[in-house]
Amino acid sequence: MKKQNSPQYYHDYLKLDSILDSQYLLSKELGVEAHDEMLFIIIHQVYELWFKQILYELDSVITAFDKGTVNESHIGIAISRLDRIIEIQKILIDQIHVLETMTPMDFLDFRDLLNPASGFQSVQFRVLENKLGLDKSSRFTYGSRNYKSHVRKDHRENIQKAEESPSLFNLLEKWLERTPFLEFKDFKFWEQYRSAVDEMLANDKGLIEKNERLSEDEKQIQLKEYAGTEKKFDALFDQDKHNALIEKKEHRLSYKATQAALLILLYRDQPILHNPYKLINRLVDVDELLTTWRYRHALMVSRMIGRKIGTGGSTGSEYLKKTAERHRVFEDLANLTTFLIPRSALPKLPDHIVRNLGFYYDSRGNK
Ligand code: HEM
Repeated sequence: MKKQNSPQYYHDYLKLDSILDSQYLLSKELGVEAHDEMLFIIIHQVYELWFKQILYELDSVITAFDKGTVNESHIGIAISRLDRIIEIQKILIDQIHVLETMTPMDFLDFRDLLNPASGFQSVQFRVLENKLGLDKSSRFTYGSRNYKSHVRKDHRENIQKAEESPSLFNLLEKWLERTPFLEFKDFKFWEQYRSAVDEMLANDKGLIEKNERLSEDEKQIQLKEYAGTEKKFDALFDQDKHNALIEKKEHRLSYKATQAALLILLYRDQPILHNPYKLINRLVDVDELLTTWRYRHALMVSRMIGRKIGTGGSTGSEYLKKTAERHRVFEDLANLTTFLIPRSALPKLPDHIVRNLGFYYDSRGNK
């Protein structure tokens, strides 16, 4: 039975006694003058609250995808939850400006008191990375220490649990692999797409070779670049080459999932593919905004402490720049644009397939 609700009081409902009583200034306790420690604590607490909200939304997206069948409404919900995460991420990037009103000298007033605590020990941040699907074997670490070794045992277990549970990356990959769109009976999408690509590449190569404004050296440079693009397409059309890239950690998304994602991007104008297309784009946004935060944080750190090591013992801004470069989750989805071809060159889908892909009703209202 539903419980009766009692009248609520703003302050109590929001548990403001505990929240507003949680800014404990070490400098005050130790008799050190450090006005900015209050800002430093509050900004970290605000970040952690937003991390909590992001994880709450992410969990619901993971639950929606952790099912045998993912229907249209699950995808719609996932998109709106990801939209919320994206808006929060923009705030996370923006509020670094507030922190930057603290000057490096202000920070030095209390920095030594924090040792060896560091954002490096943020459990929620690690759980977030793992739930999104950061590949543990690609993690950049320092001092040959596992990233979990910097936190307490109970925290380590939480992070480990998130590392072992299905991540959004894994679930998305499985969902893409299951999409029926690649099997069009009489229409061999992959073959037709390949001949359209061959034509486009031959055309691009011809344009370089025939360009009279280029010197011989310039032509050779451009042809070398072109060969690189051709190599990327080779791996797209050859599963063994694709798998070799996965082996070398140059690619992560499985062959079948890559094909399905590409088809969604190419035929995004078909009504039934609108939402899958939006979903892929939102994941790229989340990944990009996390990377932007990482760079922004690294730049702020380099201005704040220069080349000093971090309170957590890393090489500081150098370490942070490396994680910004390497800790991408949905980079393969972003890079799929390499394989887009103009709409005019796209193999035309037969009418009966368009009917299957669209919300098509005849004049009597039959599907
Ligand atoms: C004066 C401000 C700050 C400085 C100087 C600073 C410095 C650093 C440094 C040097 C690291 C690398 C680990 C280490 O050696 O300690 C780090 C990591 C980190 N910091 Fe900050 N930080 C600041 C503010 C923040 C804020 C406001 C947050 C928000 C939660 C934050 C979150 C993190 C996270 C999540 C990591 C781990 C990043 C990773 O391993 O990829 N930091 N920070």
